[in-house]
Amino acid sequence: MKKVVITGGTGFIGTYIAKRFHESGFLVVIVSRSPKHVSWSPVELIEAFEGASVVINLAGKNINCTYNEANKSAIVQSRINTTLWIGNAIEACKKPPELWINASATGIYKSTTDRPMTENETQLGDDFLSDVARQWEKTFFGFNLTDTRQVALRTSVVLGRDGGVLKPLVTLSRLWLGGKQADGNQIFSWIHIEDYFRTLIFLCDNDSVRGVINSTSPNPITNNDFMCSIRKHLRVLIGICAPAFIIKLGARVMGTEPELILNSSYILPKRLLDAGFQFAYPDIDKALYNLLK
Ligand SMILES: NC(=O)c1ccc[n+]([C@@H]2O[C@H](COP(=O)([O-])OP(=O)(O)OC[C@H]3O[C@@H](n4cnc5c(N)ncnc54)[C@H](OP(=O)(O)O)[C@@H]3O)[C@@H](O)[C@H]2O)c1
Repeated sequence: MKKVVITGGTGFIGTYIAKRFHESGFLVVIVSRSPKHVSWSPVELIEAFEGASVVINLAGKNINCTYNEANKSAIVQSRINTTLWIGNAIEACKKPPELWINASATGIYKSTTDRPMTENETQLGDDFLSDVARQWEKTFFGFNLTDTRQVALRTSVVLGRDGGVLKPLVTLSRLWLGGKQADGNQIFSWIHIEDYFRTLIFLCDNDSVRGVINSTSPNPITNNDFMCSIRKHLRVLIGICAPAFIIKLGARVMGTEPELILNSSYILPKRLLDAGFQFAYPDIDKALYNLLK
């Protein structure tokens, strides 16, 4: 039986993919800070990784918080430390995993509306989230593993039923507050959670693919189109818009950062498409029909 080890596998994405890997016949091992699962101790990590087909690292403090110094440090350190612990444990394995997929984020790219970013982009962003992803990938690719293929998955906003950004936006929309945010022209890159899972399977099956991969649907949309599509699928006719100053105020009240909504993320999955990956949910209407029906 093929073994998948998911570190940070108790969160929004981890819970979904653990279930789907299990349904697909994998033995699923979760690494977590909770005593219910395998711990982060080097001995337990090495034992979990021995002979695994794939290790998927999703661990890290959630970025949906205020960026004060304590939170910023926790966001960075939780990603760097866990990546180091995983790399060190793989190096100590007698039969190392065939593949190590480390989460990364499309937040590494610059915020643009005029041209899409692919993996070939050399000018990355210069804000906090971009810096986090850069440090994360530097730590990850700092390991030069001869027997373990490495993929850093630069993922855009993941849309799923049980968490992430969709839930609060659906609640707002049902309250007639689901209009465009700011001028609505900011680009929104997204991926259906099932396509995220299918990307992981694709990477397991295609051993020529390694390095940096964008994990995002091939059809980014504007914020305005995204909110329209949510309202359409919920059959809500009214959507009151939220100007930028309201978003900034609301973010402060809710203990999060406005840039998560106001920044533009215009990203394409060039390498996945070139490698022949086919999205089950390439456009937003199909994705939201599935998630909101
Ligand atoms: N959701 C998205 O749209 C999205 C988009 C791009 C990238 N990503 C990245 O993908 C990963 C998973 O996302 P997610 O939405 O599933 O996140 P999540 O729900 O916040 O789950 C992250 C997991 O990381 C573990 N964790 C939290 N703080 C930690 C710490 N200080 N040290 C070690 N482990 C810690 C937690 O597991 P335990 O409490 O069990 O230890 C938690 O279940 C994250 O790294 C995120 O940055 C997510």
